[in-house]
Amino acid sequence: MTNAYLIYCRPGFEKEAASELQHHAARKGWNGFAKGRPDSAHVLFCGEELPQDGPSAPRWTDLVFARQLIFLPDSEPLTLDPQDRITPLVTRLSGQAFRELVLESPDTNDGNGLSGFFKAFGNTLKSVLDKRGILRNKATRTLHLFFLDSANVYIGYSMPDNSAPWPQGILRLKFPREAPSRSTLKLEEAFLTFMDQAERDEWLREGLTAVDLGAAPGGWTWQLVKRGLQVTAIDNGPMDKTLMQSGQVEHLRVDGFHFRPERPVTWLVCDMIESPARVAQTIAAWIADGDAQRAVFNLKLPMKKRFEELERCLELMDDILSRGRVKYRLQVKQLYHDREEVTAFLIRL
Ligand SMILES: C[S@@+](CC[C@H](N)C(=O)[O-])C[C@H]1O[C@@H](n2cnc3c(N)ncnc32)[C@H](O)[C@@H]1O
Repeated sequence: MTNAYLIYCRPGFEKEAASELQHHAARKGWNGFAKGRPDSAHVLFCGEELPQDGPSAPRWTDLVFARQLIFLPDSEPLTLDPQDRITPLVTRLSGQAFRELVLESPDTNDGNGLSGFFKAFGNTLKSVLDKRGILRNKATRTLHLFFLDSANVYIGYSMPDNSAPWPQGILRLKFPREAPSRSTLKLEEAFLTFMDQAERDEWLREGLTAVDLGAAPGGWTWQLVKRGLQVTAIDNGPMDKTLMQSGQVEHLRVDGFHFRPERPVTWLVCDMIESPARVAQTIAAWIADGDAQRAVFNLKLPMKKRFEELERCLELMDDILSRGRVKYRLQVKQLYHDREEVTAFLIRL
């Protein structure tokens, strides 16, 4: 039975994550309330007998501000005695089965400071749970112990087809030294988050074309060039010299809001620091007009009412695409490498 949803989020975005959960609650008929302390990097939706599967359940892919989605049988954390943390956990978990165990904490300074404790305690706990048959290869759910500190822990689980496959919901990537800017990691994370391997092989390969709006110095263009695409880079600013030597990039110093390609391209990507509503409308118009088949773009959210602004952008895009009778799939996530922004993935079906 699920009596709360626990989601992990970027510290500072608890208000947005809670508004989003409340918004889904109204649509899907969950009874309860969302709560999250500022800068705690997690939010709860507490209710009773909340749906955990079927159309009324939350979907990790639909929750923009959720790094991870955990189902909690008990909406209160369990308090552990430092002398014996194992016994109450085993008592609580007996009779249940999970495929694996992960120990996690909020993505805050205090939370990340628990990693030493996790190493020692995790090994001991795992071997006890193995012996008791609580960890089993044939089980499907992953057991998450989300420690607020070394004594207070939420006990929950995630479903394999409805969760982030990465610890703490964080996809850590190594910065490639040859890339012209750190922004490169945002596009790499987007490709890994929104597409599976087969889709990446099909849609990111030699012979395909892309336009990069707001490209300078070239971190996003570099990701496309690396995969063999030909890129038109739009920006008044200078592009990285080595990247230009690849011969795969044409750099045009024109306004990203007015440029359109002579021939349709496979990809439109956009990281312009501009009004999110204007960016959203521009991208939707490209897709509606058939100038690009797929888009990855960033919506900057420096304003106070970020969730409301995002909802407005989604409505503006839907207006344009519906008017053009275009079938589309749109997914939006605040990625780990996003700061005051979210990343969207739009494809024409
Ligand atoms: C965050 S940076 C892009 C970084 C780039 N994605 C990378 O990975 O290196 C934003 C860029 O958008 C450009 N920009 C902002 N407004 C623009 C516009 N209307 N047309 C073209 N470029 C624009 C800026 O010149 C700036 O270089």
